[in-house]
Amino acid sequence: MRFDDIRGILRYVPQFRQRIFVIALDGAVMRQPNLPSLLQDIAVLQSLNIEIVLIFGARAQITDLAALRGLKPSSVDGMGLTDDATLEVSIEAITRQTSELVADLTALELPVAVSNALAVHPAGVIDGQDLQHTGRIERVDAETLLALLKADIIPVLPPLGYDGRGATLRLNSDSVAAEVAMAIGAAKIIFVSETPLTDEKGNRVAQLSVADARELSRRKEGGHDINLLSKLKYGALACQEGVPRVHIVDGTQDEVLLAEIFSNEGVGTMVHADHYQQIRSATPADVPHLISMMQQSVDDAALLPRTRKQIAERINDFFLLDLDGNPVGSVAVHSHNLDGKSGTMAELACLYVRRSHKNQGYGRRLVAYAEEVARQRGAESIFALSTQAFRFFEEQMGYTVSSSDILPASRRAAYDKSGRNSKVLLKGLK
Ligand SMILES: CC(C)(COP(=O)(O)OP(=O)(O)OC[C@H]1O[C@@H](n2cnc3c(N)ncnc32)[C@H](O)[C@@H]1OP(=O)(O)O)[C@@H](O)C(=O)NCCC(=O)NCCS
Repeated sequence: MRFDDIRGILRYVPQFRQRIFVIALDGAVMRQPNLPSLLQDIAVLQSLNIEIVLIFGARAQITDLAALRGLKPSSVDGMGLTDDATLEVSIEAITRQTSELVADLTALELPVAVSNALAVHPAGVIDGQDLQHTGRIERVDAETLLALLKADIIPVLPPLGYDGRGATLRLNSDSVAAEVAMAIGAAKIIFVSETPLTDEKGNRVAQLSVADARELSRRKEGGHDINLLSKLKYGALACQEGVPRVHIVDGTQDEVLLAEIFSNEGVGTMVHADHYQQIRSATPADVPHLISMMQQSVDDAALLPRTRKQIAERINDFFLLDLDGNPVGSVAVHSHNLDGKSGTMAELACLYVRRSHKNQGYGRRLVAYAEEVARQRGAESIFALSTQAFRFFEEQMGYTVSSSDILPASRRAAYDKSGRNSKVLLKGLK
């Protein structure tokens, strides 16, 4: 690991400290050789003061155990009918899984508690069919879960529930994850699946809005694993009800949890309710970010160097583009009075997009945003001075190359003095 990577990770730590992540392991993932790596990732998260709730599914284990017993299960996902024999096999499979998981976590010195913090009822009759021992979550005992988390104990919730009459009911683990996350105000649910979510061409689906996730979960065709569809369905529900981010990651990938959480682009699929990219006004606390972000372009002579003081004095002119809370681009809008004439002219400056995020439309978004700010501040035209990105302004944003004569007098003096010979790009804002 490089020092840059460590710095990259540490950037996220304050943001996630004391936040709750619900991690839902697919049953199939728990049979994978990669399980120890996943559990080690969980230990790392816990050591960074992220509060973890662990949930797991059991479809694969129930299917296997039923086959061993020569039994055809009535359903294996905790959503369809659970008959007597299937419940027996489910309890056996899940009890074994619970025991193995607790043993593995204990070996990593992680304090855990298997919890029955769910109030459940029988699911009842659905579409004319009595689902028998399948349960429905009525309520989550958030107080108990929060008390465990406060004591640095990881609550483990198996996909079983117990009703007021002492009956055991089979639950769907994805619905457990969603209900728990909503009840305890989790910052994220991370579904660890056996397969990634890909499009028709086999490419990773990196982001989905709630509406798209719900739509996809309803599609029976499309060849998606039924496990993924259920994660999309409950992920969309949780996100809509206030869980800010839901991730689906491929649990067969090494270090997948850390790679998903500690990078802007992630490695799995993220379902988001809001615009997770946003452009916002800079604050004095952003000055170091702005300087370090623009340093590369200053070194390449694409941007003029600016001191902390220069930025701080005009902080209201600066805007940052955040990607999941981390700045990846900047732009500034300065207003210039026109001597002897009415109206103002705006200057677009400090346009910068991090190298790792180029060619994804962020530059254009920042320029369009800056133009809107300029308009609102009463400017009739906007200019930019650029040594290397003039084609970008011309071809992508409709600017024309002009002469330095169009610059307001005060700016013209500085331009001539700098000797940079930047191209002058102009656009009307009417
Ligand atoms: C210029 C810059 C802001 C563009 O950001 P970006 O997020 O990569 O831009 P977008 O994704 O919105 O647009 C990409 C398009 O612009 C084109 N483009 C980007 N930089 C370009 C340049 N310097 N010259 C010509 N075209 C350029 C790309 O080829 C791409 O075109 P395509 O869609 O036809 O393939 C970014 O490259 C940057 O930060 N450069 C260094 C700093 C700088 O020069 N700033 C301008 C000083 S005011």
